[in-house]
Amino acid sequence: MNESVAERIARLRELINYHNYRYHVLDSPEISDAEYDALFRELQRLEAEHPELVTPDSPTQRVGGEPLDHFERVQHPVPMLSLSNAFGPDELRAWRDRILRLLPPEMADRLAYVVEPKIDGLTVVLHYQDGLFVLGATRGDGYVGEDITANLRTVPAVPLRIPVVRDGPPPHRLVVRGEAYMPRDAFERMNAELAARGERTFANPRNAAAGSLRQLDPKISASRPLSLWTYQVVLIEGGEAPRTQWEALDYLRRLGFPVNPLSKRFEDFEEMVQYCVDWEPRRHELNYDTDGLVIKIDDFEIQERLGAVGNAPRWAIAYKFPSEEAVTRLLDIKVNVGRTGTLNPYAVLEPVRVGGVTVRNATLHNEDYIREKDIRIGDMVVVKRAGEVIPQVVRPIKELRTGEEREWHMPDRCPACGEPAVRPEGEVAYYCMNAACPAQLVRLVEHFVSRGAMDIEGMGYKQAELFVKKGLIHDVADIFYLKPEQLLELEGYKEKRVQNLMNAIQAAKDRPLARLITALGIKFVGSTVAEILAQHYHSIDELMQATEEELTQIEGIGPKIAKSIVDWFSRESNRRVIEKLRAAGVRMAEEVPEAPPAEGPRPLEGKTFVITGTLPTMSRQEATEFIIRHGGRVTNSVSRKTDYVVVGASPGSKLRRAQELGIPVIDEAQLRAMVDEGH
Ligand code: IVH
Repeated sequence: MNESVAERIARLRELINYHNYRYHVLDSPEISDAEYDALFRELQRLEAEHPELVTPDSPTQRVGGEPLDHFERVQHPVPMLSLSNAFGPDELRAWRDRILRLLPPEMADRLAYVVEPKIDGLTVVLHYQDGLFVLGATRGDGYVGEDITANLRTVPAVPLRIPVVRDGPPPHRLVVRGEAYMPRDAFERMNAELAARGERTFANPRNAAAGSLRQLDPKISASRPLSLWTYQVVLIEGGEAPRTQWEALDYLRRLGFPVNPLSKRFEDFEEMVQYCVDWEPRRHELNYDTDGLVIKIDDFEIQERLGAVGNAPRWAIAYKFPSEEAVTRLLDIKVNVGRTGTLNPYAVLEPVRVGGVTVRNATLHNEDYIREKDIRIGDMVVVKRAGEVIPQVVRPIKELRTGEEREWHMPDRCPACGEPAVRPEGEVAYYCMNAACPAQLVRLVEHFVSRGAMDIEGMGYKQAELFVKKGLIHDVADIFYLKPEQLLELEGYKEKRVQNLMNAIQAAKDRPLARLITALGIKFVGSTVAEILAQHYHSIDELMQATEEELTQIEGIGPKIAKSIVDWFSRESNRRVIEKLRAAGVRMAEEVPEAPPAEGPRPLEGKTFVITGTLPTMSRQEATEFIIRHGGRVTNSVSRKTDYVVVGASPGSKLRRAQELGIPVIDEAQLRAMVDEGH
């Protein structure tokens, strides 16, 4: 019997590894997330029943082990060289000329070049023994790095066993060099989530990747969206060694490593130079940061002949893009007030062009950042614009100081209302604690009406500022009490505009519960947390009664968030806002239509259903009524309190959620059968 279980486990691992590879390495999945999850769960279940069959290369074993107290040192098998740089085509030509002088004519005649994107991430060195991933290290000083194996195992693009797709035996020993990185979109999302939880954010994807891999607890690395590109065979034993860089890239690709598809081989030098020049603007289209291109002589025999000077090989060079940094003067540091009362310092700069736009302001993050970097008013500073990220002050140029520069300190009062600024213990930010601070209110209203919250079209920062200034709004609930006559008195508010705004406000009364929770602007409660809360508590009233203890039981809600929620609802002024919202007719609960009292038996009594996808014969409305008629309840989102999820064609994320929570999934026929059989 065990043999068939062992076979099934082996088969599942192979399938999971294959689909993981399709998704994370080739970026072209063949199955849905739900199907993948089903395979994964089956494997988890079988392994739990047969712990003796668990192996370290099983895909279930990516995250494991206890946190370390330090990283071991790892000696690299050969020095991990770095690169010398070329700025512009002429420096590339000078590099080629130097090479030509060093080579015998028969080699000079057969030069070919491989161009690869230069990934701006963290160098990693991966060791495989008989196909098994056994060790992963940072570059360190090029000779000795740190053992970050447990963290690298959590990166889905790192193969735990090669070849990923069965294809002959693996080399006895293989060491591969690559670059771990964080995709830009994932970086933005992660930072937003960190900020929502009140944790420190990262300045750029490179720091985020490095910071995430240098965690002593692999669970933290596992929660970070990391990926990988490989580009070098450092060492190979017991296998057919590639003879050129182009072959090496192909070899890595066939073993299942992620290899950047934008690499290109050239025989004509000038054609290659043109490619480098033309490539620059394309870097912005990529979902990862690059700081140049790497050009390598293709033939390994020629590479060997050329050797290295110092710690840089002669056979490769980095073609660096012009930087997206600029230097300008920091004229002043000001503070703006965020919606939760955070006091955010920002730089007022002498206007400067960076990456094609004029920058006048840049973020300075928080007081600690300013102190750690020793940034002073009057300094010449390096300003950086990276991708979509808001411009930031990177560092001061201390060499240019004249002695006139002034240190800056967080003001001890809110610049908008004059109330004391307070820095809660364990937080990097200062807060204005005055709930009635007008600057806070403007930001809060701006947030309340924003797209991810109550989504009131025609309202934004400007309108919020105006309505607060005119005394029309004293809290967010007042939005729903605005009267057309009041608005018509304002400059620029004609009939049509006022009517549109009133309609938009009316429409906002019916937003889903999660949107309302987001809109309240509770510290650390962004849209992700709000979704979780709405799934657990089906109304504001239920949420309002939750205790810290109860909240922390929920996955995704930590003590800090729980405390913030309870604090928020315990404030008299906030409760008043809730009551005003309710009185205005704002929806305070998940849409649960009232059950019409049904005659006769109620076979679905006490059961909660969620409907997703298109059912074969009933509309969603009809299905809802059907369930209610027979005594059941229908809610919008799947939670542990859901008893059944009714699934039709093209289901949404609710199906996945149901599977995650192990909630029974039924179709329309089964729903009807439950009623017919008097369930
Ligand atoms: S080749 C001897 N190729 O750039 C070979 N390096 O500034 C040296 N890097 O530390 C490395 N993408 O971590 C090479 N396609 C690529 C690269 C790359 C990024 C990094 C590498 C190195 C740094 C040098």
